[in-house]
Amino acid sequence: MAVALVTGAAGFIGSHLSERLLAEGLDVVGVDAFTDTYDPALKRANLETAKQHPRFRLLELDLASDDLTALPEAQVVFHQAAEAGVRPSWGSEFQIYVERNILATQRLLERYREAGLERFVYASSSSVYGEAERWPTPESALPRPVSPYGVSKLAGEHLALLYARQTGRPTVALRYFTVYGPRQRPDMAFHRFAGRKSRYTATAASPGISPLSRTRWRPAGAPGLRRRRRGSTTWEEARSWS
Ligand SMILES: NC(=O)c1ccc[n+]([C@@H]2O[C@H](COP(=O)([O-])OP(=O)(O)OC[C@H]3O[C@@H](n4cnc5c(N)ncnc54)[C@H](O)[C@@H]3O)[C@@H](O)[C@H]2O)c1
Repeated sequence: MAVALVTGAAGFIGSHLSERLLAEGLDVVGVDAFTDTYDPALKRANLETAKQHPRFRLLELDLASDDLTALPEAQVVFHQAAEAGVRPSWGSEFQIYVERNILATQRLLERYREAGLERFVYASSSSVYGEAERWPTPESALPRPVSPYGVSKLAGEHLALLYARQTGRPTVALRYFTVYGPRQRPDMAFHRFAGRKSRYTATAASPGISPLSRTRWRPAGAPGLRRRRRGSTTWEEARSWS
C-alpha cells in the first residue's frame, strides 16, 4: 500500500487532504507540531475523522527542530506545514517564518534526499507573485513577493526545486490562492464573514501587539487578552491573510 506523508496534517488544508488520501486508499502518516498560531484544540478537532481511520497515523513533531529520522519511508510527501499569514510576517515575527517555512522545508527535503520518493508536493502560495507584471498572471512570470511571508514561501519553492534537480525526483509547487471551506483558519476573512465568533480579542494596550503583529492563541484570562465584546473590533478583524 502506498504511503503518503502529509505535513501540517492537523491544519485546515492538511486535515482535508489526509481524509481524501485515506478515501483514495492510501496509508497516511500525518505530521504536525500543533503550533500556537491559532488554538491547537481546533487542530486536534480537525483530525477527529482521520484519527478514526485504521490507515492513519499521527506523528507529533516539529519539522524545524526535532529529529526527523522518525519519519517513515513514503511514496509521496505533501508538505503543507508552514506559518501562514501575510501581515504578521513583518518585524521580529519573521524568525518564525524562517524556521517554519524555510528551515523546516530544508530539513524535510534533506530527510528524504536519499529516499525513493515518487513525488514531493510543496504547498506554495499566490503570495509569491506579489507585484506581478500582468493579470491574470502566468506561472512563467517572475515572482516578486511583497511580503516576508511571500519571500519565505518562495524560498521553500526554490529549495524544493533545487532538491528535485539534484535528486531527479518529480516535484511540484502548488501556488494556492485563498482556500476556503470548513475548518478554515480562524484568522481568514471567509471564516470571519461566515460568522463564527472568535473567543478572544487583544486589547489595544496589550504589550507587543500592533496591527501588524501576530495575536497568538492564549487561554482565557491570559494577560493582554480579554473576552470579545459585542461590536468590538479585534486585530483579527483588521487582518486578511492567506
Ligand atoms: N489557506 C490558504 O488559503 C492558503 C493560501 C496559500 C498558501 N497556503 C499554504 O497552505 C499550507 C496550509 O495552510 P493552512 O491554511 O491549512 O494553514 P494551517 O495553519 O491551518 O495549517 C498549517 C499546519 O502546519 C503545522 N506546522 C507549522 N509549522 C510546523 C512545523 N515546523 N512542524 C510541524 N508542523 C508545523 C501547524 O501546526 C498547522 O497545523 C501552508 O503551507 C500555507 O502557506 C494556504
